[in-house]
Amino acid sequence: MSAQPTNSLQAAEPAEEVKREEVVIQVQELHKTYDLGETQVHALRGVTLEIRRGEFVAIMGASGSGKSTFMNILGCLDKPSSGRYLLEGTDVSSLEKKQLAGIRNRKIGFVFQGFNLLARTTALENTELPTLYSRVDKIERRRRAVEALKMVGLGDRTGHFPSQLSGGQQQRVAIARALVNRPSILLADEPTGNLDSRTSVEVMEIFQSLNDKGLTIILVTHEHDISQFAKRSIVFRDGKIKRDEIIPNPARAAEVLKTMPSVEE
Ligand SMILES: Nc1ncnc2c1ncn2[C@@H]1O[C@H](COP(=O)(O)OP(=O)(O)OP(=O)(O)O)[C@@H](O)[C@H]1O
Ligand SMILES: [Mg+2]
Repeated sequence: MSAQPTNSLQAAEPAEEVKREEVVIQVQELHKTYDLGETQVHALRGVTLEIRRGEFVAIMGASGSGKSTFMNILGCLDKPSSGRYLLEGTDVSSLEKKQLAGIRNRKIGFVFQGFNLLARTTALENTELPTLYSRVDKIERRRRAVEALKMVGLGDRTGHFPSQLSGGQQQRVAIARALVNRPSILLADEPTGNLDSRTSVEVMEIFQSLNDKGLTIILVTHEHDISQFAKRSIVFRDGKIKRDEIIPNPARAAEVLKTMPSVEE
């Protein structure tokens, strides 16, 4: 079981070097054109890159540069107009909707700027939702949801409704929900966009600890400070990659938090 990349979260010790080096995402010449009848929007104009297991990538770029379009394709929520996308070696560019949904559910966790939690549903039930489509039984589903909530530090809030949680806590429930099927890749599109600066760093602390355990993370952010918690930074411009570089000494969120005033103080 520990050999399965989908269980990266559970790995007690870092996976062997070979696994970490494995290419999980490979895209070649991705193009996406939105056809609006009279006009066509070229949202992606030839994106080629590789992402390896265990990477933590920040994607930046001006509004409209194609970041969300790119993330939606990576997350199998949308298909490219042309180009190739290999996800853990499987060519997903040609798959049908239903097959894409299956792959998405098993391999990918998604976190958005809006937390998208169900209002009349507890933190535990919200977290459990994605497991309803999997073949595990009820007790195991619940166990996994509790485990995911503990992972984001909300073990003591399982019975709370979204309205009884702070913004940061709601986003943590959304992260737990993204993790509950034990994906090998976490995609986050502006996850701190609605959060104050301290809460944003707290979310980055969670991402860094998940990444330390081997989870591959791709994060879109407008904020330079937030991007500096990642290990690699990619800048989009007009639907293309303008810059792609390693961040030599990523900031540690846990350290930065020590220097920030907390709400209780
Ligand atoms: N469903 C759609 N139909 C038509 N055009 C779209 C659609 N989604 C995005 N676009 C266009 O594609 C381009 C890229 O949009 P995208 O949402 O990927 O940008 P972004 O980099 O995520 O921007 P932001 O930082 O504002 O979120 C934009 O010009 C946008 O207007
Ligand atoms: Mg966007």
